[in-house]
Amino acid sequence: SNTPVKVAVTGAAGQIGYSLLFRIASGALLGPETPVALQLLEVTPALKALEGVVMELDDCAFPLLHSVEIGDDAEKMFDGANAALLVGAMPRKEGMDRSDLLSANGKIFTGQGAALNKVAADDIKILVTGNPANTNALIAKENAPDIPAERFNALTRLDHNRAKAMLAKKLEVSVSEIKDLAIWGNHDDSMYPDLYNTKVGDNIAADLVDEAWIKDEYIPTVATRGGAIIKARGASSAASAASATIDHMHDWLLGSDEIVSMSVPSDGSYGVPEGIISSFPCRVKDGKYEIVQGLELNEFSKERILASAKRLQDERAAVEKLGLI
Ligand code: NAI
Repeated sequence: SNTPVKVAVTGAAGQIGYSLLFRIASGALLGPETPVALQLLEVTPALKALEGVVMELDDCAFPLLHSVEIGDDAEKMFDGANAALLVGAMPRKEGMDRSDLLSANGKIFTGQGAALNKVAADDIKILVTGNPANTNALIAKENAPDIPAERFNALTRLDHNRAKAMLAKKLEVSVSEIKDLAIWGNHDDSMYPDLYNTKVGDNIAADLVDEAWIKDEYIPTVATRGGAIIKARGASSAASAASATIDHMHDWLLGSDEIVSMSVPSDGSYGVPEGIISSFPCRVKDGKYEIVQGLELNEFSKERILASAKRLQDERAAVEKLGLI
């Protein structure tokens, strides 16, 4: 029989958690053959609500769900974990500025990085969804010196999926006809979807649309989609964020035939400075990813990519100043 894969999820009682856990337990993350052991971390006051979520998980009678553990101690919940989905973070409250948010959330990721370093399995893969995702992933990585750096990723797959869906809608084609689309940079409004290397059938996407549409409509609409959802739904994107989290970790574990967007530690490719976790087009196979090499970037793309990388360098400087890395 298959041994279960241990998947740790933080912020499990939150909005994203409520969608994520049921998809994982039904087999969307690991495929239809592999049982999963869930290890769910929350803050103490949320454990009661999390017990309710576990009752519902039980009530689904998922055949692949081997076990569920919950707790507020990171070293216990990360023990032996093969994959960690770090979703839990503090939302920005009224009166908090960006540096307050970096500081409050940064402390979560110093502790969780250290705990992963101590107790996770040797093959641990870590994906940070909680915002500011790229810099939180950097903080966790810097606090986990024994885990190979490339095991720390951040989520830009939601931006990737949004960009793909929006382009498909504009061109009136199926999303499956769009290939090689990638998001570059930070998961914030500076992220850059490159349509100059995106293929739609035999065409390049940028040849099928006006340049003005790309610059004035498409890029800003993708970048501000999160805000548009809050306005419409009265709450931030949750099911789509959970779906993207699963897409990213699924492809990292099991591979993909397509180029996907992953925020990974920069190796200096395309002039993106080392020392930050930035989104790149990646290929994934056999549990390993590679940044796609040899792409031609036009001046506009280069400018936008480096501008987004600059945001990440500034965030890095801010958390260095706070003593978090
Ligand atoms: P939420 O507020 O509903 O849930 C967050 C949960 O994290 C809460 O239950 C909270 O108790 C828990 N938490 C806080 N500190 C924790 C800690 N130290 N350890 C364990 N759990 C902790 O928020 P939601 O909507 O589920 O979003 C979670 C995060 O994901 C937010 O930071 C949000 O900004 C981010 N996000 C990122 C996206 C991306 O594309 N990268 C997309 C959408 C959301």
